[in-house]
Amino acid sequence: MKEASAANLVVVSDERALAQALAERVVELGRQAIAARSRFNIALAGGSTPKATYALLTEPPFRQALDWKRVRFFFGDERCVPPDDEQSNYRTAKLTLFDGLSIRREATFRMHGENEPEAAAGSYAAVILRELPLDHLVPTLDLILLGMGPDGHTASLFPGTDPLEDDELLVRAPYVEKFSTHRITLTPRVLNGARDVIVATAGPAKADALAAVLHGPRDPATYPIQILEPRAGRLTWLVDRAAAAKLPPS
Ligand code: 6PG
Repeated sequence: MKEASAANLVVVSDERALAQALAERVVELGRQAIAARSRFNIALAGGSTPKATYALLTEPPFRQALDWKRVRFFFGDERCVPPDDEQSNYRTAKLTLFDGLSIRREATFRMHGENEPEAAAGSYAAVILRELPLDHLVPTLDLILLGMGPDGHTASLFPGTDPLEDDELLVRAPYVEKFSTHRITLTPRVLNGARDVIVATAGPAKADALAAVLHGPRDPATYPIQILEPRAGRLTWLVDRAAAAKLPPS
């Protein structure tokens, strides 16, 4: 992983400031994508960190700041549960973002966590191949939002499940020992094919991992998020002071 330069590491005061900064970036990148290509293809992150951003996007000024009819929503990963399960990343996005913006169902492309994992991964690969422009044969998203776990995972690339940096596949369904379940996840091939990748992480629980990920030795088997090196795109780390507490002074 390239060391995070000052250019791509943004430290904000707290989680509220992070939600605001992330909402601003989503809208700005969305406007640029729509101006250039008439649509904005974004993959949403799961977990709890992005919820505040999603809620902000449904309110003024963000609600009016983007032509949401031109936005299409994909997912970086999903739990192997039905879409109405409280663990579902799709359900979280629906309740905190899609419903508030009256996003048409046809503009959302969820991973079918209710299906057999391998089959769900294969069908999602077909969806992104069909719905997204290809660059170097890889479905290309305008923006992928990601979080980071305290163990250095991202999407559903967890320590102990080989992150398969040169994975030929676009979507996988790894078995995650930690949760004794499968997950469905975009592979590094897709994550690193995006025009923009933003990792948004906050809180003291992420400080050790963030320092190891950004300034420790490259070891993606231990810290899978270190596979993030967009081929031609831009990687931005958007973190709050608590998560940045163990980074060397810039
Ligand atoms: C998921 C996410 C996962 C998440 C991190 C951080 O499905 O849970 O894809 O990678 O982004 O675990 O989660 P928090 O934002 O809740 O800390």
